[in-house]
Amino acid sequence: MSEVSANVFASDWTPSSWQNRTALQQPQYEDAAELAQATAQLAGLPPLVTSWEVLALKQALAEAQEGRRFLLQGGDCAESFADCSSPIISNRLKVLLQMSLVLVHGLKKPVLRVGRFAGQYAKPRSADSETRDGVTLPSFRGDVVNGPEFTVAARRPDPQRLISAHAHSALTMNFVRALIDGGFADLHHPEYWDLAWVEHSPLAAEYRRMVAGIGDSLRFMETLAGPIAGFSKVDFFTSHEALLLHYEQALTRQVPRHPGWFNLSTHFPWIGMRTAALDGAHVEYFRGIRNPIAVKVGPSVTPDQLLPLIDALNPHDEPGRLTLVHRMGNAKIGAALPPLLQAVRRDGRRVLWVADPMHGNTESTSNGYKTRRFDNIRGELDQAFDIHAAAGTRLGGVHLELTGEDVTECTGGARGLSEADLERAYKSMVDPRLNYEQSLELAMLIVRKSAGGMAA
Ligand code: PEP
Ligand code: CO
Repeated sequence: MSEVSANVFASDWTPSSWQNRTALQQPQYEDAAELAQATAQLAGLPPLVTSWEVLALKQALAEAQEGRRFLLQGGDCAESFADCSSPIISNRLKVLLQMSLVLVHGLKKPVLRVGRFAGQYAKPRSADSETRDGVTLPSFRGDVVNGPEFTVAARRPDPQRLISAHAHSALTMNFVRALIDGGFADLHHPEYWDLAWVEHSPLAAEYRRMVAGIGDSLRFMETLAGPIAGFSKVDFFTSHEALLLHYEQALTRQVPRHPGWFNLSTHFPWIGMRTAALDGAHVEYFRGIRNPIAVKVGPSVTPDQLLPLIDALNPHDEPGRLTLVHRMGNAKIGAALPPLLQAVRRDGRRVLWVADPMHGNTESTSNGYKTRRFDNIRGELDQAFDIHAAAGTRLGGVHLELTGEDVTECTGGARGLSEADLERAYKSMVDPRLNYEQSLELAMLIVRKSAGGMAA
């Protein structure tokens, strides 16, 4: 679509108009002057992404809405400052690249890669405070707000962390961009994406056979046609839950030549399930920015709630603007999703439907771990494809929590992890993530489902 003209932007919106609404899930900062000083400093720092990248992503998402691309969005539930390191960033990228190769090969269409990284530092919590042994402290809300340790000092919401979060996002972005620009994602060298610890995995063997086949085809085509530039580079975009509105506001900017306001902290911010109320501060903030945006949709949302939300966030039905990420749970998706798909379809609204099969399937084990059963994750995704097919709508992408580290956080999968195995390598600070094999298995499921075949 051509550039939106300036007069379609809401005249009653400003980057701070959210402050007149109820903002859920925000920390209580002790000192307003300290917060103001930090947000003023943040507002003077350079942005993390550019408006033309943001608009290019919106265009690509518009293509995904038409079925010409598939969205792969994934990364940590919560990034941490401590994990801003070379191996953790590059291993996460390797898993996403391997998954996307499986998807490109199987779906025969371009895959749009969006990381949950370079800014995923704020977390919604079910309670504002936490009590241990009679001591009550503020809940940990992610590294952009406070520290996870259970001490008065760590749990104090600290405005300086806004600056630190921007810096760690910039370090992550810089490394990802350098890797991609340097040829890390080159299809001629998929061996760059091998993870040392998965050598003996049965799925890795299947993956390698596929890679060898792709390598042969690539060499054959290049013998005939010369080097094919598109295979040496891929695009990578960033996303995070834009939860902490002081942070997002400080990075909301105007740019030369493109009208309106852009959130330049990330390409693709989303509204979490707990903060998606129509009259809330998050919806107010999001309606005024020009980025492509997503909203998480949980099992209690009704068509009567969803349609006004779509109107508020995408009043001009702009292509690529709005993605709806359903996260229902394996047991609930069958009843909860069809009425929403039918209502949106009946209304003729343009959205990209994406499945998050993670967040509706979280449970606690008897030994005290927060986990997800791989069978439930796979089951929800499997059902999502069938429900969309029956409704005449299109599932255009997936949203996953995954890591390139050798973790044991979700049970089941190719290595049949049990609840007892969780103790071995449970590292997540918040939600349990898929490990390498579980991630690749989901990519293979997507290919089978999209091809119309039976799921294993
Ligand atoms: C998340 O994506 O980590 C999250 C909290 O999701 P939701 O808002 O869907 O619960
Ligand atoms: Co999560």
